[in-house]
Amino acid sequence: MEYQGRTALITGASAGIGVAYAEEFARRGSNLILVARRADLLEKLASKIAAYSTVEVTLIPMDLSTLDAGQNLVDKVSALGLDVDFLINNAGFGTNARIEDEDRATVQQEIVLNVATLVDLTAAFIKPMIERNSGAVVNIASTASYQPVPGMAVYAATKAFVRSFTAAVWGEVSDTNVRVLAVSPGATKTEFFDIAGAKPAGRLVPVENVIKTTFKALDAKNSKPAVIDGGSNRLMASISRILPTSVVTKVAAGLFLPKRE
Ligand SMILES: NC(=O)c1ccc[n+]([C@@H]2O[C@H](COP(=O)([O-])OP(=O)(O)OC[C@H]3O[C@@H](n4cnc5c(N)ncnc54)[C@H](OP(=O)(O)O)[C@@H]3O)[C@@H](O)[C@H]2O)c1
Repeated sequence: MEYQGRTALITGASAGIGVAYAEEFARRGSNLILVARRADLLEKLASKIAAYSTVEVTLIPMDLSTLDAGQNLVDKVSALGLDVDFLINNAGFGTNARIEDEDRATVQQEIVLNVATLVDLTAAFIKPMIERNSGAVVNIASTASYQPVPGMAVYAATKAFVRSFTAAVWGEVSDTNVRVLAVSPGATKTEFFDIAGAKPAGRLVPVENVIKTTFKALDAKNSKPAVIDGGSNRLMASISRILPTSVVTKVAAGLFLPKRE
């Protein structure tokens, strides 16, 4: 994979895993289009990157959790005359509540951001990649995609969608040089659990682990549709595939299902 002089669009680049993707693409010489709501954090990151890299950094502060957000972002990128070689659909959030206690508006934003916007951006930006016969789409799923998660029912379902959708699109472009990859981090040290109001199950790993796993897969000779970060997470996902759904769902409930009020 050639990174130098190409352009990576990263959603959710104001915090956590997205910041680490931005820094790694910059190190590899890719120009950046950084998207998230918090403009001040995007500006801070752009200044940090400018201290060690000469890549061009374009900031697009916007909310991606509305139904027209994906198309609006595509229009903004097109108006700037920029081509996207690498699309990193990373923006996302989770909520931790019993389904009857979930806030309806928040859950709708969660579904639109984690699913609808990711689909819109993939569809729009993969077309020119196919025409150029190069590029990559990286969609951030989660180990939560490998089993239903009572207490995070909506979040886990959005991530199962991301993994299934990404594998299908991988199958659609397998006759080209375009890479399509779903990355499933396990519990990772970011703002994610605070925002979800959830307690992480197990040790939090540094964001750099997710970045290493991603680039190892992108740079591998053979294209794979999905990758899981961390050996123990890979083991748990394999076990989840073998055990009955009733069993793995009860185990997940023990980790994330809040007590009834
Ligand atoms: N951390 C984990 O344990 C873990 C595990 C598995 C999967 N993941 C996935 O990894 C991805 C990155 O999460 P993270 O762990 O880095 O969490 P994070 O630290 O909370 O970062 C989330 C990013 O998404 C952006 N975002 C949230 N809502 C947005 C909106 N409405 N519009 C635009 N951008 C929005 C945030 O920026 P603004 O708030 O500035 O908009 C932030 O940059 C997510 O898809 C998450 O589901 C995380």
